Amino acid sequence: MPQPSDFPANAFRKWDVTDDALFYEQPRFVTHIDDAAIAALTDLYREMLPAGGVILDLMSSWVSHLPPEVSYTEVVGHGMNTAELAANPGLNRYFIQDLNKTPKLPLADDAMDAVLICVSIQYLEQPIAVLSEAARVLKPGGCVIVSFSNRCFPTKAVAIWQALDDAGHVDLVSHYLTRAGFDRIEAKVLRDGSVSDPMFVVMGWTADR
Ligand SMILES: C[S@@+](CC[C@H](N)C(=O)[O-])C[C@H]1O[C@@H](n2cnc3c(N)ncnc32)[C@H](O)[C@@H]1O
Repeated sequence: MPQPSDFPANAFRKWDVTDDALFYEQPRFVTHIDDAAIAALTDLYREMLPAGGVILDLMSSWVSHLPPEVSYTEVVGHGMNTAELAANPGLNRYFIQDLNKTPKLPLADDAMDAVLICVSIQYLEQPIAVLSEAARVLKPGGCVIVSFSNRCFPTKAVAIWQALDDAGHVDLVSHYLTRAGFDRIEAKVLRDGSVSDPMFVVMGWTADR
């Protein structure tokens, strides 16, 4: 899907234009944010995600940061590396898909209570197409939670992300969610970065039909 015309030309270009599958071929069993930032995100998930719900963890790896004591009916994972996703103890099933090639998700309409995208939104070249898909697979009143810090793989982050600071990233993700048709949007600073990695979330809800 072409990007809307309200973005500058080349906003979604990357320094490394080789296939993303090459970059993610090797598993990375690391965490991309520090323990305090992870704990803050897990607390938010504990508050926001319904126990017994059906959750989609988009752009996942070997960790999902879900509260370990909460049971969900199903957690579906998605990512780029089979070994990472196979090692993720929170997932009931997973699929591999390059969202920069194919933004359409192989999932039914109105299937999910929540969709998560953790420290990964900066790698999407068609973020509005992907987030529109998140809206499609969410149930009415369902929630997407996009979280991010101030780190990235710089060769793989899109140009517009690299051009902005933390506040700009919050505005950018809010804009993506608006353009993807989310009904209500709310941003939160989970950690301000003074004593740990900063952690920001932008959440969007689908309309109650
Ligand atoms: C920094 S990792 C974050 C992983 C995980 N969400 C976490 O919290 O640790 C970035 C992730 O973005 C995903 N990703 C990057 N490029 C992608 C693409 N073209 N299509 C689909 N997923 C992609 C991969 O799953 C990769 O593991």
